Order: sequence, then structure tokens, then C-alpha cells
Amino acid sequence: MNRAPRILVFDSGLGGLTVFRALAAQRPDADYVYAADDLGFPYGLKSEEDVKALVLSAVERLIADHAPDCVVIACNTASTLVLPLLRARWPEIPFVGTVPAIKPAAELSQSRLISVLATPGTVARDYTRDLIEKFASACEVALVGSTHLAELAEAYMQGESVADDAIAREIAPCFASHDGRRTDAVVLACTHYPLLQDFFTRLAPWPVRWIDPAPAIARRADQVLSDRFPAHAVRDAGFTFVFTSGAAPAPRLLKTIDILRQKIAREPRARASG
Ligand code: DGL
Repeated sequence: MNRAPRILVFDSGLGGLTVFRALAAQRPDADYVYAADDLGFPYGLKSEEDVKALVLSAVERLIADHAPDCVVIACNTASTLVLPLLRARWPEIPFVGTVPAIKPAAELSQSRLISVLATPGTVARDYTRDLIEKFASACEVALVGSTHLAELAEAYMQGESVADDAIAREIAPCFASHDGRRTDAVVLACTHYPLLQDFFTRLAPWPVRWIDPAPAIARRADQVLSDRFPAHAVRDAGFTFVFTSGAAPAPRLLKTIDILRQKIAREPRARASG
């Protein structure tokens, strides 16, 4: 097709911007609609039934309004629950999800002690437990459900100051040490968390690999699009930001998003343009 693909990137809040960042580096020629379900945030503390209902109704409206060629559910809490429902409801649209990167963590861990840092919803999912059973049976896996990190990340993106203590408390349970071994890999299984990466690196009791699956998600989205939409010459990606409440994003948030987009534009291209 001889036009830019339109990619809808959906999250409960601003965390999906970490996935958008990787997508825009992979497909700078696409048009992006970023949607934050501020009406439903936070998903991580809600029941499975509530999350399903919120995502289905928000996505329904967004598809009607923006007619995307691909939808990226940039939220682990939603993806571990609703992908089959979304695919059944809109079989003509490819959906790409975000699920905990347990396989790569298990593969690169030397100590065989890994942690999955996620929302309480994601750590409770059967989907997450199945991934551990399938890919990390040789590891001891700590499932760490954080009640505050997603909100702290939202505050940080809105330009508020965030206390080191508050973050250190949330990540502390990820660090285990026994029998001369200690945790060496932590899966960032909530898309909000890479927004706080600098804090994590600085506040960790010892260095670990923090695993952010965003680049892999971006490659997957590119794969599902590339038959119909081969990559075109690089141009300024279109970008629309939507809150499901209809609220306008605050100027400070727009500024943060602008800085993020400028950084992406300066990064070396993930692929040759043509
Ligand atoms: N960004 C979402 C995720 O990846 C969760 C944040 C929330 O609790 O709504 O899980």
C-alpha cells in the first residue's frame, strides 16, 4: 500500500510511550495515535472483569475514530488478559501485545535468580505463571507486584518530582541473595517502568540486567505490517495524543513527549530507508 500505516498505541496511561519510542525508531514512516485510558487508570489494581470491559470499550471507540492498520496494546496488565478477545472481535486488524519478557531473562541469567516486576494484576495472571513454567523452570522467579510504581511514573512524566525512597521501596523485593547467588535479571513487566530506568539503575543495591521488551515489540509490529506497508523513506512521523476522557494533555506533559520524540529522531535509524 502506498501510504503510511497508522498504528494505534494503547495503554492505561503514559507507560506505552516506552513502546511508542521503540516503534517510532523501528518505523519512523508510520502515523501514530497514542491513546492513554486515563478514565480507567490504573489497570493494575482492578479486577480482570473490569480491565476487560475498560479495554474493550476504549479500543472500540478508538478504532471507530482512527481506523488503525495495527493496534499495539502497550500494556502488560491488559495484554495478558484481553488479546484473544480483541483478535476475535476485530479479526481484520493485527493486534500486537506486550507480555512479560520472562524467556529472555531466563536465557541470560547466570545466577538463575530472576525477578518479574509488574503490576499486582500482571503477577496474578495465569498467563504470567504459564510463561514461568514454560520458559523459566530452571530459575527461581520472584514475582514482585508493585502498587505504586505506575503512578510514580505518571507523576514523573507530568513533571512532578519523585522521591528516591518511594522508588527504592518498590524495587527492593526484586533483589534476592542466597547460597552465594544473587538476582541478576529483572523483567520490567509493566510499560510504565522503563520511564523510571534512571532511578532503578541508580537505586539498585547491585547491578542487574533490566529487561525492557519494547524493541522486540516494535520488531513484531513491523513484521505484521511489512507485507501491506513496506517501510518508506523516512519522514516526520505523524503523532496524535488522546486521553480517553477527552482531556487535553497538560503543557508539561506535551513538552516531555516532545523531548522524547526529538531523542528518537536523533537516534540512528533501525533500518535503511528506501
Ligand atoms: N502500563 C501498564 C502495564 O504495562 C500498567 C499500568 C496500570 O496499572 O494501569 O502493565
